Amino acid sequence: MQSLLEKKARRERITALTAYDYPTARLLDESGIDVILVGDSLGMVVLGYEDTTEVTLDEILHHTRAAARGVKRALLVADLPIHTYDTPEQAVETSRALVEAGAQAVKLEGGVSHVSQIKAVVAAGIPLMAHIGMLPQSVREEGGYKIKGRTPSEAEALVRDGKAVEAAGAFSVVLEIVKADVARQITDALTIPTIGIGSGQHCDGQILVTHDLIGFFPWFTPKFVSPQAQVAEEIRKAAASFIRQTRSV
Ligand code: KIV
Repeated sequence: MQSLLEKKARRERITALTAYDYPTARLLDESGIDVILVGDSLGMVVLGYEDTTEVTLDEILHHTRAAARGVKRALLVADLPIHTYDTPEQAVETSRALVEAGAQAVKLEGGVSHVSQIKAVVAAGIPLMAHIGMLPQSVREEGGYKIKGRTPSEAEALVRDGKAVEAAGAFSVVLEIVKADVARQITDALTIPTIGIGSGQHCDGQILVTHDLIGFFPWFTPKFVSPQAQVAEEIRKAAASFIRQTRSV
């Protein structure tokens, strides 16, 4: 946590990717990534749900245990699934379970609306990463993954959210699909690092869903991602080659 703050002070970019299993976590850890997130994007890219709102605590715990076995060096953060932090007491209980499963820090979605939960988790001695902007756990109410900060009042509310989570004790904050100039404004206004996803280049760090980065979920890729590999194609080629070879004997 301290080294992330120091990186912001030195204007050194923070790198973060998701992992939900042992080999991916180990490969990312060995690659030198700063933060590994067992995100509830698990629901979409691993479990085949439509969105993150179906992910349960048991599922996140199971995948956090697996990822934790592969991490020696990076900071391992795990997501609090929807409705597992509706009250400060529940947020603390869920966060403790995630720490017991191997997470070093937890993440929850919400700004001003979740200050009491953030304060309670931090007071319990558990480091917390906040998440503001587009909140995937609210995608059904929002009617889609829409960019945030397009109007002056939305931009002001986002800056308020950022300041509120910092004051509540969060050690960093994810900005998801926030207009780039607003993300810059939040980044400049905060001491804690901002970690952007689809929020432009002015954040203190960047996070992506690893499946998007490596082309392992070819049925949907967010517009802001440029995949750096085509893993799905490699799997299709290997499977086709195995099928050919087996049938030809
Ligand atoms: O669940 C997740 O993967 C996330 C990142 C997209 C920030 O919350």
